[in-house]
Amino acid sequence: MSAVGHRTTLQEYVSSGLGGGAQDDGLDAVIMAIADGSIQVQRQVQQAALADALGATGETNVQGEIIQRMDQVSSDIFVETLSSSGHVAAIGCEEIEKPVIIEGEVADGYIVLMDPLDGSSNIDVAVSIGSIFGIWKKRPGEKVNEDSLLRPGDEQVAAVYVVYGSSTVLVLATKTDVCGFTLDFRSGEFAVTHPNIKIPKECLYYSTNEGNHKVLDEPTQKAVANLRNKYSQRYVGSLVADFHRNLLKGGIFAYPADRNRKDGRLRLMYEANPLGFVAEQAGGAASTGYQRILDIIPEQLHQRTPLILGNKDVVEEIVSVINGG
Ligand code: AHG
Ligand code: MN
Ligand code: MN
Repeated sequence: MSAVGHRTTLQEYVSSGLGGGAQDDGLDAVIMAIADGSIQVQRQVQQAALADALGATGETNVQGEIIQRMDQVSSDIFVETLSSSGHVAAIGCEEIEKPVIIEGEVADGYIVLMDPLDGSSNIDVAVSIGSIFGIWKKRPGEKVNEDSLLRPGDEQVAAVYVVYGSSTVLVLATKTDVCGFTLDFRSGEFAVTHPNIKIPKECLYYSTNEGNHKVLDEPTQKAVANLRNKYSQRYVGSLVADFHRNLLKGGIFAYPADRNRKDGRLRLMYEANPLGFVAEQAGGAASTGYQRILDIIPEQLHQRTPLILGNKDVVEEIVSVINGG
């Protein structure tokens, strides 16, 4: 293989101001803790079948969903790397009922909300899955408790997701940049491969669970029918993978409310807020169909939300049709 030039590593990127001259106040350590955890999770995911670690734990989470063994493994790994970063004051996790409050005073701490493994139905079948993180800064002087985690998505300082796919890709969004990194298995480090990500103007794909069509209300059925008539359908069934493709290629993801899921299917704090933040920073949009995702004032850690996510023009079009326009 021919020699390739040096690529900026994630470590170099975060140490030199996160692509926009940000102060070094520990956010770099939080991001590196996520990256370290994701490398461990990636290895576990690759080895899961060989280690007899596939399948369900037999437990259900607070939302009544079956916890897969790999959900548990991933959750444990990220709780460990984030807790020992020295800069995380609290962690909220899809698989853990109550927030993990880190003991001791973390003066410049961050609050991290995560979906440690996204794409449950794909874990056992070698299809792309991922991890999703929203990062908030602790309010100055605040003694962190459960309510400290109930912050609107608009207050995120950064969001990260990782896709364990045909390559392992980490995308980091801050207020100044959205940058994609690929895990280099030779060096064991993430290196920049997708600088300055902007969602393409042209929308190519729509991603929705067509099996839900009959339980949608009429305006939402019409909105989905419009997508069907205009764009190619792609649906992995792992939000993080569907979103990643749509972000790079131009596309729209829709998991609207329906008759069986009045509040939608996806989680506000672990899925919609972080990916909504990434989408907006890349020039896209995120809506419930009625409200901008990042404006929602959360009432519960594990609350669900409808989610329309991707190209801004198309999100606006769907919202208008859902509202009878
Ligand atoms: P999780 O594995 O974290 O519970 O999330 C699964 C989610 C999301 O990844 C995906 O978009 C959605 O479930 C798919 O739902 P359907 O199977 O209902 O289409
Ligand atoms: Mn998920
Ligand atoms: Mn999950």
